Amino acid sequence: MPIPTSRTTEKGRISIDSLICNGCGLCVEVCKDFSLAIENGKAVESKHSVFGCIACGHCMAVCPRDAISVQGRHLSPADLFPVPQKADAASFEALLALFQRRRSIREFKDKSVERQVIDKVLHAAATAPMGIPPSDVHVLVLESKEQVLQFSKDYCEYLKSLRWMVSGWFLAMMRPFWGKVNTDMFRDFIRPLIAKYTESMDKGENVVMYDAPVGLYFYGSPYTDPADPLIAATYAMTAAESLGLGTCMLGAIHPFIQSGKGARTFREKYRIRFKSREGLFVIMGYPRIKFEKGIHRTFANIDHLS
Ligand SMILES: Cc1cc2nc3c(=O)[nH]c(=O)nc-3n(C[C@H](O)[C@H](O)[C@H](O)COP(=O)(O)O)c2cc1C
Repeated sequence: MPIPTSRTTEKGRISIDSLICNGCGLCVEVCKDFSLAIENGKAVESKHSVFGCIACGHCMAVCPRDAISVQGRHLSPADLFPVPQKADAASFEALLALFQRRRSIREFKDKSVERQVIDKVLHAAATAPMGIPPSDVHVLVLESKEQVLQFSKDYCEYLKSLRWMVSGWFLAMMRPFWGKVNTDMFRDFIRPLIAKYTESMDKGENVVMYDAPVGLYFYGSPYTDPADPLIAATYAMTAAESLGLGTCMLGAIHPFIQSGKGARTFREKYRIRFKSREGLFVIMGYPRIKFEKGIHRTFANIDHLS
């Protein structure tokens, strides 16, 4: 059975022009579904496909003679383009400088972000790798300050209905089931967060999405690898940075709009198609504040085994 996603349940259809194929075997080497083999000096479909072609496109992208095409699962030969020149690709130094210049930006100029710029960010983010092609990442675009504010207001109203989740009796009741870490997080992080979000919004201050002119929500379907929306969001953040935008990831919305009737109503209002294991917001806009210095960051641990 082909691997299903919310977009497709078919498998890729491979066709090989044996008159053009020179049997170099590159397609066989790159196909990790083991869909291809060389027989009598030509590439052929093998009998050892693991899942059925997932239409990653690697075989047709690597073929030096354009002898292979894959159709289906939202892929066709029309999706191929020449690999950009190495000279046009960011050097390590350029990429590091981009990363080091980035800060989470929560203060924005009162200036909208043009649709073409948002499209560029999404175009770049769509190049992100995904667990299984075709990408099962869905994106909600809030593309004005007004939309972002309305979304934040609705979210805060909805959050008020979840206050029982951080009440003392509930945390005490759940302690034996979900352990110390969850209890600590709900008491010391989620409880003050909900209070701050809702109380600030009641006073007219948006500390959920700040005054961002754009909010992008990357989420999956029940089929999506949970990492996919997070990787796509990271690509979007990096692309936005390269375009002179300031960005900030927001993790405090996705987990609360997954379960229950209120969450479903909220999702429906904003045409969020699925609940999903992981999802992430990225807000962006033109930064109002400039940071003078970068900040060194470290990982918790890097354990070299040798
Ligand atoms: C997964 C994730 C979730 C985050 N959620 C929020 C959030 O809900 N609200 C917020 O103001 N910042 C949020 N941030 C931004 C972090 O607070 C910020 O990255 C951190 O303070 C380090 O600052 P820097 O990004 O400038 O290095 C989030 C960042 C990440 C990566």
